[in-house]
Amino acid sequence: MRRVFSRSAPIYDAVYASLRDYPREAAELDRLIQERRPGARTLLDIACGTGAHLEHLADYQAQGLDLDPEMLAVARERLPKVVFHEADMAAFDLGEHFDAVVCMFSSIGYVRTEERLHAAVASMARHLETGGILVVEPWLTPDVWLDRHVGAVFVDEPELKIARMNVAERAGNLSRFDFEYLLGTPDGIERFTERHELGLFTVDQHLDAFRAAGLEAEHDPEGPMGRGLYVAIR
Ligand SMILES: C[S@@+](CC[C@H](N)C(=O)[O-])C[C@H]1O[C@@H](n2cnc3c(N)ncnc32)[C@H](O)[C@@H]1O
Repeated sequence: MRRVFSRSAPIYDAVYASLRDYPREAAELDRLIQERRPGARTLLDIACGTGAHLEHLADYQAQGLDLDPEMLAVARERLPKVVFHEADMAAFDLGEHFDAVVCMFSSIGYVRTEERLHAAVASMARHLETGGILVVEPWLTPDVWLDRHVGAVFVDEPELKIARMNVAERAGNLSRFDFEYLLGTPDGIERFTERHELGLFTVDQHLDAFRAAGLEAEHDPEGPMGRGLYVAIR
C-alpha cells in the first residue's frame, strides 16, 4: 500500500482550504445521517486525512482511520481526544460497530482495483450496526475522466507559498497525477513530487460493491463537489 500524502501532510489543509468547505460538508453529512438513522451517535471516518470533517462532527462519538501516519499526526494534534487508527481501508477490523461510516473526498479511489474496491466496501459494511449508514464520496468515473488535463493550486499566505501543478494521465482504468510541489517558507524553498494513482470505477461497479457487501445503496450524481455521493444502509 502506498502512502501518498506523507510529504505534503503538514501543508494539506492549506492546499485544500480553498477547494473544500469542510464545515458545510460536515453539516450536510450530519443531516443525511440523522435523516436515515435518527439518533445516530457513533461515527467512523475512513481515510480521515487531517481530521478536517471530524472537527465539525464533534457531537458524535467519532473515530478516524487512515493509512498515512503523517496525515494522522496532523489529525491527532487537531483533535487530541479522538481515537485514530492507522490501517488500510481495504483490510481493517476494529472489532466495533458504528451508526455511521463515512469515506469522503474521493479517498475510495486510492484502492486502485475493483477487487480492492469490493474489499474496502465490505470492510466498511462490517463496521456498521444493522440499520447503520455508509456514505462514500467517489472519485471520477471513466467516462468523465479528462486525460492530459493541467491542474494547479496556489497558496499565498504571508509565510507560506505553495505552487502545485500536474498533468493528469490515464493508464487503462487508473488515473495518475504526479503532483510537482514548490513550497516556500522562511526556511527556504523546497521542491518535491508526489505520485497519486486512483482507480476509475463506473457507477455500476460501485453499486455492485455495495450490493456484494449486503448494502442497499442510492447514488446522487452531484454530491459535495460534483463527483457524486453513495448513501447505503445495512
Ligand atoms: C484526498 S485525501 C482525503 C482526506 C479527508 N477525507 C478529507 O476529506 O480531507 C485521501 C486520504 O486517503 C488516505 N488513503 C489513501 N489510501 C488509503 C488506504 N488504502 N486506506 C486508508 N486511507 C487511505 C490518504 O492517506 C489520505 O489521507
